[in-house]
Amino acid sequence: MLAAYAVRASDDDPLAALEVGERPEPEVPDGWTVVTVRAASLNHHDVWSLRGVGLKQEQLPMILGCDAAGVDADGNEVLVHGVVSDPDWTGEETLDPRRSLLSERFQGTLAERVAVPRRNLVPKPPELSFEEAACLPTAWLTAYRMLFVRADAKPGTTVLVQGAGGGVATAAIVLGAAAGVRVWATSGSEAKRARALELGADQAFETGARLPERVDAVLETVGQATWAHSLRALKPGGTLVVSGATSGDAPPAELSRVFFLQLRVLGSTMGSRDELARLVRLCVTSGVRPVIQETLPLADAARGIARLAAGDVVGKIVVSV
Ligand SMILES: NC(=O)c1ccc[n+]([C@@H]2O[C@H](COP(=O)([O-])OP(=O)(O)OC[C@H]3O[C@@H](n4cnc5c(N)ncnc54)[C@H](OP(=O)(O)O)[C@@H]3O)[C@@H](O)[C@H]2O)c1
Repeated sequence: MLAAYAVRASDDDPLAALEVGERPEPEVPDGWTVVTVRAASLNHHDVWSLRGVGLKQEQLPMILGCDAAGVDADGNEVLVHGVVSDPDWTGEETLDPRRSLLSERFQGTLAERVAVPRRNLVPKPPELSFEEAACLPTAWLTAYRMLFVRADAKPGTTVLVQGAGGGVATAAIVLGAAAGVRVWATSGSEAKRARALELGADQAFETGARLPERVDAVLETVGQATWAHSLRALKPGGTLVVSGATSGDAPPAELSRVFFLQLRVLGSTMGSRDELARLVRLCVTSGVRPVIQETLPLADAARGIARLAAGDVVGKIVVSV
C-alpha cells in the first residue's frame, strides 16, 4: 500500500528522512481493526519524527501520521483517536505512562490503511467531510483540551494564543471564538495576524507585543520564543497552558514571576477519546469547521511537510487518500 514514512533521522533537513512509496499491509493485533484511510492531516509531530524525536533507529521505517478519518472493516465512517494506551489501562488514555501516539510505536495514518485499537474509533457524523474530520483527533483535540479543560476558559474570559498560524493555534482561535471567549492572538507574520482576525480573534498582535491588559490564560505551543511574553501577559493567578515547544524548550523559567503572581503553569497533551467525541459534537451543533489551508494527495505529502517545517501554514494541511 502507498504510505509516507520516515526512513532515517535528519535533524537539519527533515525532508531528507521522508519517503513516499509502498509499505506492507498493517499487522492487526487482537482487539485491533483496520481502517481504510480517506484523509489524514499533517501535524508538526510528523516533522519531529523525521528529525528523529521520539523514534529510535530500530523502529524505522515508521509510517507518519497521528490522525485520520476513514471507513472501518464494517463499512462505518470513523475518526481515529491517535492515543494508544495499554490494553489493561482503565484510566484516562493520556495519563497512561505506557501510552503512545500512532506513528511512535505503531505505524501511523499517512497510508492507505492503518491498524488501530477498536476502542480508538469515534463515529464520523455525515455533517463533517473526511478532510474536516481528519483535522480533529490531534491539533483540534489538543486545542479543545487546552482551552476548555486545562485553561477552563469561559465566555467572556480573555485567552492569548501564541503563534496564531499553527494547527493547534488556529483551532484554539476558532473554538474559543465559538464559545464566546475573547481570543487574542500573536504572530510574527502580518498576513497570519489578519487571518487570525478573520477566524474570530478579537485582536491580533505582533509576537512579543505589549498587550492592552493582562489576560486570564495563555495557550502556548511555540515554547522558548514566546515563553517570557506568555508569563508577562498573565493576570495574577492566571493560567499558562503549554502543549508544545516548536521554537525550543529551554526558556528562562521566570520562577519569581510564577510564584509572586501565583501563576498556574499546566501541561496538556492531546485529549481523551471522550473529549474527541465531544469535540465532534461541538462541530456538528455549532457549525464550526476546521481551518484547512490545503488538501494534497498522499503522493505529494512531502510538499505539505515542507510547508509545516518552514512554518508556512495557517491552519491544517490535509492529505487525501
Ligand atoms: N502535546 C501535544 O499533545 C501536542 C499536540 C499537538 C501539537 N503539539 C506541539 O505543538 C506545536 C505546534 O503544533 P502544530 O501542529 O500546531 O504546529 P504548526 O502547525 O507547525 O504551527 C507552528 C506555528 O508556531 C509558530 N512558531 C513556530 N516557530 C516559532 C518561533 N520561533 N517564534 C514564534 N512563533 C513560532 C508559527 O506561528 P506564527 O507564524 O503565526 O507566529 C507557526 O505557524 C508543535 O511543537 C507540536 O509538536 C503538541
